[in-house]
Amino acid sequence: MTDQIKQRIVSGMRPTGNLHLGNYEGALKNWIRLQDSGDYECFFFIADLHALTSDYADTSAIKQNTIDMVSDWLAAGLDPERSTIFVQSAIAEHSELHLILSAVTPLGWLERSPTYKEQRENITAKDINNYAFLGYPVLQAADIILYKASFVPVGKDQASHIELTREIVRRFNNFFGEVFPEPQALHTEVLTLPGTDGRKMSKSYGNAIYLIDSAEVVREKARQMITDRTRIKRTDPGHPENCDVCQMHRFFLTTEIADQFDDDCRHARIGCVDRKRALADAIIEKYGAIAERSHQLRDNPDEVIAILKRGSERARQEAQITMAEVRRAIKMDWA
Ligand code: TRP
Repeated sequence: MTDQIKQRIVSGMRPTGNLHLGNYEGALKNWIRLQDSGDYECFFFIADLHALTSDYADTSAIKQNTIDMVSDWLAAGLDPERSTIFVQSAIAEHSELHLILSAVTPLGWLERSPTYKEQRENITAKDINNYAFLGYPVLQAADIILYKASFVPVGKDQASHIELTREIVRRFNNFFGEVFPEPQALHTEVLTLPGTDGRKMSKSYGNAIYLIDSAEVVREKARQMITDRTRIKRTDPGHPENCDVCQMHRFFLTTEIADQFDDDCRHARIGCVDRKRALADAIIEKYGAIAERSHQLRDNPDEVIAILKRGSERARQEAQITMAEVRRAIKMDWA
């Protein structure tokens, strides 16, 4: 298949910095799988303008977070030769299309967005009572349709944003002609990876193990995890269903092997220390090579920056083609 007939995939992540194992298992691994399939033309970007919509009061961490995150992407297997990897803010067309789409987006659609309502209720640490935050999904729609994406691989939490994108496309096309295709969300079913406290792994819970964690850090995090509180002595029978270590360990094993470990625990054939060690071994074996590559990339930030600049140039060319068409459609084709 040539690039012309390959369908496009677009997805982005806000620059939150180091990726944890849950980010990898839940999102990045899927991007890499789509890239490796060779079936799509892939565009993956850092949504730093989206970070700006809520972190405008202090943008000092965004650039470093971008470099850290892209180092993890590359270390895990995103390949700049096969995917276009870029930074949203480097391509002015995202902002331009955002403004044009904002004209056709009714306020009610944004005010009724479930993610907006949820965040208005829950975010207290920063002031999100600003114009751009309300328009977050409009910017996301611009990100996607600027490249005329067919598919958007995202978590289920983003479903309403993709639906809103489709509604904006329909309204735009209604006014100005069939410029944009309606993109489709690609939700892959993934098991949720538990964190070191048994809850879903999340940076904000402080229960995460990061892709770049060294073997020593992984062992230390595993050592500090809580096991079955009722198992006091090594000879006491354990209850793996009440044990964070057992829950997390299961994620890395086949059901059969996990059941065997659980059985050994219930019959006190293995102790909690043994299981923590086995968990750490599983994590180090699975992600150790990624950690090493990511560290090497962080040691050469210029290389990462050069990759992003090349990717951004390539993305910009595509963005410019779409924007020429958009300006003609809205009859403002002066540029
Ligand atoms: N809102 C997405 C998230 O929080 C990030 C994002 C921004 C995105 N623009 C996008 C995802 C375009 C897919 C396509 O995860």
